[in-house]
Amino acid sequence: MDFKPTEEHELIRQSVKEFCDKYVSPIAEEVDRYQRYPEEVIKKIAEQDLMGIYFPAEYGGAGADVMSYAIVIEELARACASTSVVVGAHTSLAEYPIYKFGTEEQKKKYLSPLCKGEVIGAFALTEPGAGTDAAAMKTLAVLDGNEYVLNGSKIFITNAPVAGVIIVFAMTDKSKGTKGISAFIVPAGSPGLVIGKHLEKMGIRGSLTSEVLLKDCRIPKENLLGAEGQGFRIAMMTLDGGRIGIASQALGIAQAALDESIRYSKERVQFGKPIGSFQAIQWMIANMAMEVDAARLLVYRAAWCYQQGLPYSTEAAMAKLFASETAVRQTERAVQLHGGIGYIKGTKVERLYRDAKITEIYEGTSEVMRMVIAGGVLR
Ligand code: CAA
Repeated sequence: MDFKPTEEHELIRQSVKEFCDKYVSPIAEEVDRYQRYPEEVIKKIAEQDLMGIYFPAEYGGAGADVMSYAIVIEELARACASTSVVVGAHTSLAEYPIYKFGTEEQKKKYLSPLCKGEVIGAFALTEPGAGTDAAAMKTLAVLDGNEYVLNGSKIFITNAPVAGVIIVFAMTDKSKGTKGISAFIVPAGSPGLVIGKHLEKMGIRGSLTSEVLLKDCRIPKENLLGAEGQGFRIAMMTLDGGRIGIASQALGIAQAALDESIRYSKERVQFGKPIGSFQAIQWMIANMAMEVDAARLLVYRAAWCYQQGLPYSTEAAMAKLFASETAVRQTERAVQLHGGIGYIKGTKVERLYRDAKITEIYEGTSEVMRMVIAGGVLR
């Protein structure tokens, strides 16, 4: 098995790292503090051809592979987790389902502007009463002539306030359970589409999250994505890929915690020596480095499986579970290692600590990851 990054992957990493040093890191603290959507950076990311990384050039993508995508998200998250999730949710959750299940017409109309970064994408599955139990959704879609009429409410929708296209899941036949769910492409400005209030979050505060309300929301019949009843499968398959993105994000956060800890261990002097010369700190750093590396191997394996056309649902769940728990552990260690300064607002490790937690929750909680892994292993 060979899933190590190629020379080309390392070049991508280097160029994204340089990009982040120049444009992303300098505003990361401000983005977090003021919940500021980093619009100008997202535009620059689009100019770098990174808003549709693993989709073919004919649809406006960069034609790279999923490993490249994982590396880009990892490096963005290392600089600013908010920025990484804007790009991650846009790519994995909005572009992928259109690419995989859309008609040629839908791809030309919706995927191309998304890949070029002209439009931002979102994915609306979760409802107030349907989080982990996604199939319990109440949103309804009824065909009325040449239009579907959608009614319901979605919550915690990443990118919704800035989205030009939202992939919405709704029941077309309540009697059929998961087989009665369908997926729709809902463009911004559709009559009856209301973007609800912005929700202030503990971390990833520059990524905007809100409710999406559908009040007799009318969309053309041809905006059905895939076939009627295929929606739950579309959502699950989309989330399998999305979990590689969140795992990469978690990896980038964990790496940043390690970077900061190494730097501080060399700089901070106590008892007349840099704290990195004390064994207690060395062991902490050793554990951090080992766990970050292990997470990276799982993330790259999941990306490699995807690229090879192998099953990757279990691998993506393992990568997300391990990388997110690694991110939480490493950021906690990083705050501890920094002592009092690590608890002060404006310190990078304080932000990383808050940013890490969501990776254990969104795109499937750690508990769901264990369900998916157990399902794969016990099959
Ligand atoms: N690929 C293809 N099909 C799949 C699948 C997958 N990965 N997972 C399930 N299915 C199919 C099953 O095969 C089954 O089909 P059949 O009936 O033909 O056998 C059907 O879907 C139903 O599957 P389950 O019986 O397993 O469904 P369930 O209702 O028990 O749910 C679950 C299983 C794993 C808990 C699922 O509901 C789930 O993943 N929940 C978590 C939802 C989630 O991740 N939400 C995140 C929201 S998005 C987000 O967070 C975005 C953001 O902000 C960035």
